[in-house]
Amino acid sequence: MPMVNISKATIDQLIIISEIEKELFTPAFSYEQLEYELNTNPFSKFYVVKQEDKIIGYGILWCTFETAQIIKIGIMKKYQHLGFGTELLKEMIMDAKKEKCENIALEVRASNDKAISFYKKQGFKKISVRPNYYQQPSEDADIMWRSLL
Ligand SMILES: CC(C)(COP(=O)(O)OP(=O)(O)OC[C@H]1O[C@@H](n2cnc3c(N)ncnc32)[C@H](O)[C@@H]1OP(=O)(O)O)[C@@H](O)C(=O)NCCC(=O)NCCS
Repeated sequence: MPMVNISKATIDQLIIISEIEKELFTPAFSYEQLEYELNTNPFSKFYVVKQEDKIIGYGILWCTFETAQIIKIGIMKKYQHLGFGTELLKEMIMDAKKEKCENIALEVRASNDKAISFYKKQGFKKISVRPNYYQQPSEDADIMWRSLL
C-alpha cells in the first residue's frame, strides 16, 4: 500500500475536505457543519488522511463516554480500495479505546455495499435498521456496531 499519513485536521485544510465531502456524500455536511466538528464540538475528533502531502480523505469520530460513533469516513474516489480507509478506521478504533469507550457504532446507507463490507472486515456487525433515516434519496440506515473490550 502507498505511504499514508493520518493526523488531526486543521482549519486551513477544511476547504479541501469540504470539496471531498461534496464528492462523496449526499446530502453533504456544509462547510459550517465541518467547522463545528473541528472547532466546537467537544466530543469530536477530526482526522485527515494524506498521501505525499496531498489530502485524500478524512474522518470524524465522536467519543461520548462509553460509546464512540463514526460520523464520517471518506476517501476520494480515485484513492479508494487501496487500504487508506482501513488505516483510518483502525486509527479511530485505537483512539476510541484510548478514550475508554466500550463500543463503537455507525450508520450507513443500506445500499452502500462497499462501506458495509469495509466495516464488516473490521469486526462490525449490523445490529438494527433505522427506517428512512437518510434523505436525497430516502433510504434506511443500517446501524453497525462492535465491542471495543
Ligand atoms: C467506504 C470507504 C471509506 C472505504 O475506504 P477505502 O480506502 O476505499 O477501503 P479499503 O481500501 O481500506 O478497503 C477495505 C475493504 O472495503 C471494501 N471496499 C472498499 N472499496 C471497495 C470497492 N470499490 N468495491 C468493493 N469493495 C470495496 C472491501 O471489503 C475492502 O476489502 P478488500 O480490499 O479485501 O476487497 C471509501 O470507499 C469511501 O470513502 N466511500 C465513499 C464514502 C462512504 O461511503 N463512506 C462510508 C459512509 S458510512
